[in-house]
Amino acid sequence: MTSLKKILSDKNLSWKSVWFMRQAGRYLPEFRKIRSQNQNFIELCLNSKLSAEITLQPIKRFDIDSAIIFSDILMTPYALGQDVKFIKDQGPELSEFNLERFLDSNEREFSEKLFPVYKAIELTRKNLNKDKSLIAFIGAPWTLLVYILNIKKNKTEMDLNKLNNKNININQILDKLIKFSCIHIKNQINAGADIVQIFDSWAGLIPLNNIKDYCFIPNTKIVEFCKKEKIPNICFPKGIKEKYEDFTRIVKPDGINLDYEIDPLWAKNRLRDVVIQGGLDPKILLKSEGEMLEGATKYIQTFKDIPYVFNLGHGLLPETDPDRVKKLIEFYRNF
Ligand code: CP3
Repeated sequence: MTSLKKILSDKNLSWKSVWFMRQAGRYLPEFRKIRSQNQNFIELCLNSKLSAEITLQPIKRFDIDSAIIFSDILMTPYALGQDVKFIKDQGPELSEFNLERFLDSNEREFSEKLFPVYKAIELTRKNLNKDKSLIAFIGAPWTLLVYILNIKKNKTEMDLNKLNNKNININQILDKLIKFSCIHIKNQINAGADIVQIFDSWAGLIPLNNIKDYCFIPNTKIVEFCKKEKIPNICFPKGIKEKYEDFTRIVKPDGINLDYEIDPLWAKNRLRDVVIQGGLDPKILLKSEGEMLEGATKYIQTFKDIPYVFNLGHGLLPETDPDRVKKLIEFYRNF
């Protein structure tokens, strides 16, 4: 097995690696224990010691190659002055967007508010074996905008009126988010992270004629920043279907995470000059062991002769049995 960092920078080898999105989370009893004693989620993310401990929980349990820092994409809007709350069984809730306050935030205030996250990265790096990569992450500007303006009505629909509101200049907000995303990336790398993953979880909600402006351009600017700074990067434009091909060609990230709707063989044939990661539907871990291993085989077999990072098509679900995760990793290692 090869470190994730090496795979992303030296793409011509058929190297393999494994980690899982949301590997540090609610499916682990040791996480739920800490969480039950820390009701405020943002405060938990700002507790450097606990954040480092949670980050290392899956590393202690499983034979995986990378750790992803325990934090959240919504730490960016938080550091840009918005109140962020996590309502139990409902998800995040952000206070009313205040454009003036948002545009007013400066780099010093932003980095100071997120200092505990950087401290957690530093602590984690000290306690993480050198041959394992530490993954930092950000939310892509569009996905942050969805939360910042509270655009989403439910899982599949959005309130387009908010997007077309004449008083709101979307591009101005996206530009500010791009700038501060790059600052957040740089700070995380300076603190000891090796790689960054850019989550565009709601890219699939973008109206087709806006995909260039709201998805391709912001992701390209961030990837270009990473390249300039020599930071290995992975993009995850979830839900954009066959546009994965245009995305990869235009944005040119080092790595691309497939979502569970993308056919692995299609991806292998169409996505060029990029390291492929993930794809397996996290729901398959809830099915029988046979079904899970059959599903995994499709990905491992398809990508056996090219660089591939074994991972999922979205995060591990809270109801996942940790023993299933262990089984899946063992199966992958022995393949
Ligand atoms: O293990 C890891 O992957 C690292 C930690 C991590 C979290 N959030 C912790 C978390 C990462 C990488 C994220 C990213 C994130 N956060 C995304 C992008 C990936 C994706 O899932 O699409 C998004 C959209 C968010 C925003 C967010 N944070 C939501 C919608 C929610 C509530 C519902 C849910 O999906 O869990 C969170 C809360 C959150 N972030 C939890 C964890 C462990 C659960 C907190 C809890 O209720 O105990």
